[in-house]
Amino acid sequence: MKTLRNNITYGRVADLFPRTGTILIADSWFRGRGIVEAWGCPILWTNATEQEKTLTTVERLISQLLELQADRDTFLIGVGGGITTDITGFVAAIYKRGLRFGLVPTTLLAQVDAAIGGKNGVNFDRYKNMVGTFRQAEFVYIDTDFLLTLPLRELRCGAAEMLKTFLLADAKAYAEAVRVFSGPTPERVPEHLVRRAGEIKFSLVEQDPEDHGVRQLLNLGHTFGHAIEKCSTQYEHGEAVAIGIVMAARMACEKGLLQPEEAERICSDIAACGLPVEPPVPEDQLRTAILQDKKRTGGTLKFVLPESIGKATLWEESVSA
Ligand SMILES: NC(=O)c1ccc[n+]([C@@H]2O[C@H](COP(=O)([O-])OP(=O)(O)OC[C@H]3O[C@@H](n4cnc5c(N)ncnc54)[C@H](O)[C@@H]3O)[C@@H](O)[C@H]2O)c1
Ligand SMILES: [Zn+2]
Repeated sequence: MKTLRNNITYGRVADLFPRTGTILIADSWFRGRGIVEAWGCPILWTNATEQEKTLTTVERLISQLLELQADRDTFLIGVGGGITTDITGFVAAIYKRGLRFGLVPTTLLAQVDAAIGGKNGVNFDRYKNMVGTFRQAEFVYIDTDFLLTLPLRELRCGAAEMLKTFLLADAKAYAEAVRVFSGPTPERVPEHLVRRAGEIKFSLVEQDPEDHGVRQLLNLGHTFGHAIEKCSTQYEHGEAVAIGIVMAARMACEKGLLQPEEAERICSDIAACGLPVEPPVPEDQLRTAILQDKKRTGGTLKFVLPESIGKATLWEESVSA
């Protein structure tokens, strides 16, 4: 077992899988740090950038798997943030028509969101996550020790997705997460909060694995968030989602679904967690971007609107010409 610092161990996961027949696909951030190397399996490295989350990287990984003579009995494990877990799931889905795989998410965002639910894929051209499949991992190993080295900005991006999930289903966990992230930088993210967020996502996914109904609630903050990402490069995804949640809360107020005090509370909670709350471009520019959003189906725009802290609803609007 590899110990990085006193009492901090990253090696427990290695007890879960056989050393023979297992190949790791790992975020190159870990290269040379002696953590994944200690697990004793061949390692294929990937860079965690959106520019390299591509079919070219997938092809390179497939060539490397062939060189290692990976066959249908090979077990893949993806170790890293959401970019690495998305790539691993996709390679596992298509290599020789499908390999078994597990995931070890190492960012908060991946632990509460990206690694859970079986969606995988890569970017294509200018489009994010345009090519991919649904394939469930056999295990998702959550170890909050990994978060100790995560930059604060990445931690906050994960916090945004965590708050989003709690806003859908758990007011008590929401309040606790706000307390944790609004104080001084938390030394540790409480593991029970990470697990609770994962549980909520997992239960929505179980009810709607292919994202035609209730799973879409997880898009809270994402209709506005994606538009912000389209119109400006200022913010990371989690930050854009944070602004998107505030915009969704304000919209819910306008529609009479949410009390104004609750919308203001959501806004001040998110700001207190060190996340942005105001869009970087005027709202009508975002509206135009939303109209072009790929999620538009049959002339209907979909928003997820909070009704109270712990409850949200899908809201559809037809597109006026
Ligand atoms: N499949 C899904 O359902 C789903 C859901 C949400 C997001 N995603 C995808 O997830 C990706 C974003 O995930 P992310 O935010 O984890 O990004 P990421 O994978 O880019 O990781 C963020 C950064 O943290 C670094 N890093 C990873 N682990 C670290 C650690 N323990 N210590 C220090 N640095 C570490 C990475 O090298 C990278 O620079 C996007 O591509 C998004 O499309 C997928
Ligand atoms: Zn997201």
